[in-house]
Amino acid sequence: MKADVVVGIQWGDEGKGRVVDALAGRYDIVARFGGGDNAGHTIVVGDQKLALRIVPSGVLQTRPELFIGGGTVVSLEGFIKEIEMLAGIGVDVRRIKVSDRAHVVFPYHGALDLINEAARGGAALGTTGRGIGPAYTDKTARSGITFADLHDGSFAEKLRVNITAHGGRLTDQVEATSKLLPRVLPHVVDGVEYLHGALEGGKRLLIEGAQGSLLDIGYGTYPYVTSSHTIAGGACIGLGIGPTQIGTVAGVAKAYCTRVGAGPFPSELHDDVGTRLRERGAEFGTVTGRPRRCGWFDAVAARYAARINGLTSAVITKLDVLSGFERIGVVTGYRVDGAPAAFGAVGEALLDLEVRWFEGWDADLSGCRKMAQLPRAAAAYVAYLEEALGVPIDAVSVGPEREALVVV
Ligand code: GDP
Ligand code: IMO
Ligand code: MG
Repeated sequence: MKADVVVGIQWGDEGKGRVVDALAGRYDIVARFGGGDNAGHTIVVGDQKLALRIVPSGVLQTRPELFIGGGTVVSLEGFIKEIEMLAGIGVDVRRIKVSDRAHVVFPYHGALDLINEAARGGAALGTTGRGIGPAYTDKTARSGITFADLHDGSFAEKLRVNITAHGGRLTDQVEATSKLLPRVLPHVVDGVEYLHGALEGGKRLLIEGAQGSLLDIGYGTYPYVTSSHTIAGGACIGLGIGPTQIGTVAGVAKAYCTRVGAGPFPSELHDDVGTRLRERGAEFGTVTGRPRRCGWFDAVAARYAARINGLTSAVITKLDVLSGFERIGVVTGYRVDGAPAAFGAVGEALLDLEVRWFEGWDADLSGCRKMAQLPRAAAAYVAYLEEALGVPIDAVSVGPEREALVVV
């Protein structure tokens, strides 16, 4: 059975959580492959609203197991808190597994994240402050501590070495870590045995991306990116599966664009229209509460993301937020010195934009469930997005709730 992948194709917060929640009932395992609790994935089912940080968004479906893959970086405290919250609402948390290859985010990583950001001054990245960059730095430097190290006890010496290497600015964290282990270790599995065993047994796997493609460490708006590979290729690395085991790759995009944190954002609106998008879309960070920067859909960025992910389809979210705008813009081209430019010019100071305008609509879309129920202008807008992306749109979401989905 081939695995299906869902990734964000903008700068994060596209609504991956709600899309994964809607799909997860058809799968046996939902897996995260990268990132950590810098992610905040919101799912709304009835009057229940969850903002998940590390546990995959299939948790409110009863069928799937939830697997936190080897490519992730996991804060023990955050993990325990999330598990306790889920247990408290009646979730069987024995379904939650963590790969022994996943890396641990320690409090010292969080401290370093803040120190590094302060040192960058005006060039700060606007990280979530969760220690994600420092944890991946330790991984790449071969100093990282994995869940396997927690299991066999070898973490204590490694942790002391890492903390000493930072010049004694950090406090000893061995004892605090040891206290957390009884609540963590029961979830740890040999990630390769677990996942491949399941796949060989015919289990269906849904892979949930975190962050967005334009935050990818290699292909995003570097250095204003996160520290992991967020694109679909990252799913293979982060789960230890081959490209031949991937079936479909669905890209999730908002019907407009947002970004939280610093870095290039060509279609950003600094005027009332941007403020209106933020208010209508409730665009405030799930993790940090920061206001999200808002702008029109960027078709250049979307096409770029479609390529680097090898998308087979797309899902558009938050179309309902655009109701009431007289006209809706889409950035259709970048120009530098009058010449057409590729997405790679995204940070270029001389970047000019080509904008195409679409007719708006007034109707409330939240009750729509079929394409035929969308106002003509909204359907025309979706048809254009499909053309811009170059892949079929599978579904359009018109509200945060599980069922607020127009399946195409
Ligand atoms: P993720 O990180 O990609 O999972 O997205 P977030 O959960 O961080 O942000 C998406 C936000 O938009 C959440 O508050 C969702 O509840 C909300 N949302 C998702 N889809 C829709 C939609 O179609 N319409 C509206 N109005 N809100 C949505
Ligand atoms: P989800 O999965 C939106 C952004 C941060 C910052 C940059 C680096 O909910 O879509 P980091 O803490 O990762 O070192 O911060 O990346 N960022 C996100 N923005 N959604 C996310 O996750 C993000 N995860 C990281 O705001 O600009
Ligand atoms: Mg989010």
